[in-house]
Amino acid sequence: MCGIVGAVSTKEKILPILLDGLYALEYRGYDSAGVSYFKDKKIKIIKAKGKVKHLEDKINSEEKTTIGIAHTRWATHGEANTVNAHPHQVKHITLVHNGIIENFLELKEMLEKEGYTFKSKTDTEVAGALLDYYYQTTKDIDETIKKFMSKAVGSYAILFLLDNDDTSIYVLKKESPMIIGLGQHLNLIASDIQAILKYTNTYYLVGDLEYAKVKANEITFYNKDGNEITKDVKTYQEQGDELGKGSYKHYMLKEIEEQKDTVYKTIKKYINKGINSLLELPDLTKYKEINIVACGTAMHAGLIAKYLFQEFTNTRCHVYLASEYRYQNNFFSKNTLTIFISQSGETADTLAALKLVNANNLDSLGIINVKESSIARGVQKVLYLETGKEIAVASTKAYTAQVALLSLLVLSHGYRKKLLSKEEVEDILAEFNNVSTYIKQVLLAKDKYQSIAKEISQEENAFYIGRGLDYYISMEGSLKLKEISYIHSEALAAGELKHGTISLIRKGTPVIACATDKKINSKTVSNLEEVLARGAKVYLLTDDITITNDSFTIVRVPFTSSFLKAIIAVIPLQLIAYYTADLRGTDIDKPKNLAKSVTVE
Ligand code: M6R
Repeated sequence: MCGIVGAVSTKEKILPILLDGLYALEYRGYDSAGVSYFKDKKIKIIKAKGKVKHLEDKINSEEKTTIGIAHTRWATHGEANTVNAHPHQVKHITLVHNGIIENFLELKEMLEKEGYTFKSKTDTEVAGALLDYYYQTTKDIDETIKKFMSKAVGSYAILFLLDNDDTSIYVLKKESPMIIGLGQHLNLIASDIQAILKYTNTYYLVGDLEYAKVKANEITFYNKDGNEITKDVKTYQEQGDELGKGSYKHYMLKEIEEQKDTVYKTIKKYINKGINSLLELPDLTKYKEINIVACGTAMHAGLIAKYLFQEFTNTRCHVYLASEYRYQNNFFSKNTLTIFISQSGETADTLAALKLVNANNLDSLGIINVKESSIARGVQKVLYLETGKEIAVASTKAYTAQVALLSLLVLSHGYRKKLLSKEEVEDILAEFNNVSTYIKQVLLAKDKYQSIAKEISQEENAFYIGRGLDYYISMEGSLKLKEISYIHSEALAAGELKHGTISLIRKGTPVIACATDKKINSKTVSNLEEVLARGAKVYLLTDDITITNDSFTIVRVPFTSSFLKAIIAVIPLQLIAYYTADLRGTDIDKPKNLAKSVTVE
């Protein structure tokens, strides 16, 4: 999604810093980029459709300037072209913006009556006109910002330059992340810490409905009433991604491989001293119910946790898509814990759902990868994944780490509720201690995944099926395939096939089944026979050595307890999706239309 970077310095070499920031933001997904800066007291704007490289080609990075703002745009209002790309300039104001101004049509109409005309289709240009209108009517920048904040509805992180002030960048924020970094003779502003890590790891957080004036040697913060406020400096501990992709063709493949370390790294402090360390996880016994709220892959991790909570701890658990949760009638109860799962910690819908939970004074727990992200800061308690930065848009190592942490949470809960015995828990912990070995084992069968990918890559539709836990694993496998290979794919509870979807099965349609639950595997196998009889090509992922069938292509995974099944079984599905997409030549790490961090709803 959109990314922002701004810089103001006492030294005259800002453009390479802004370009570094834009390159660091590329992983988020975008379709155009732009920059604006003061040159001899005049504002210059340069924009390009497509990659940051296209923008760089248009820029003379040697040009001397001490102040500038830059943006990568993921199109929301209006197609991806240079007219809609940011920065936008409206008379005195030149701005970049993340988020959505929800009342922009109403504002546009009002501003048109005041004589403003618009070149682009964006809500950002309307925001710029609103700022300009207030600036022209008040001649006072604080009044301008205060009036803007009380009028604009929606979310925004805005940087703007004022045409008669070549020393300041103005920063406004509501519900879209924004930080201000402290460099050497340099202050930086960004929507994402990654954009500035090359220059600094110390920063201030801009809060909701706050604004700031940033100069090379001075940063001043204000609340929405225009009163000056003070802030603490924060330090970001994690290193930037210095290693890059290494010898890997794509980040996604690197991140899939990394799972042999990242799962264990995430859970080791909860397993290395046996049950004692497990009990360092939060005690959930006071809750009657667990709600899980998340989006996409993180939601799929939530479904695995739901299965385990219900199956092993007799605790009712609901999983909600954050985009639904935020608008539905929720029955908030003090006896409920709400768990928010998010790799980025910035997903707009998940964040909005968290605000709802906080507004109702309910307990919350976050399972988050990015430290100090908005969701991590908003929850009562946070458990961090230790996977390092996930760059590929398709989430892989975050998913397995999320599942592992959640599984341990279930395990500790079951033990505390005396529904799992000490021996049972110790056996499962022993498995978790071996998780890297299991993962290495499944990573080895690459030839098999590649040959399956070769067959699937010829098709335009695929179906994933499973029952219980296997259905939830299938959902993740299906999402991986469709988002990077652009093959249409659906996951179904195996028993649902004949209630409609089986009509789509024809000769050669790939049907990929997961069957890792001995109690119900035979049912899934029967469903596979049904699609086989209708011409489907059948692939079966199983840990059940008793299943043999020459008509199926069988992928065997090691047998584990239910607590590890999703972690182990998803890896072949990730690799099948990866190799399929690679054969189809897609942009695997940055699939079209997708963004790593979905910061608008
Ligand atoms: O950062 P989050 O975990 O909150 O992101 C949620 C989804 O946007 C994300 O999992 C998305 O579905 C991925 N592209 C899936 O690979």
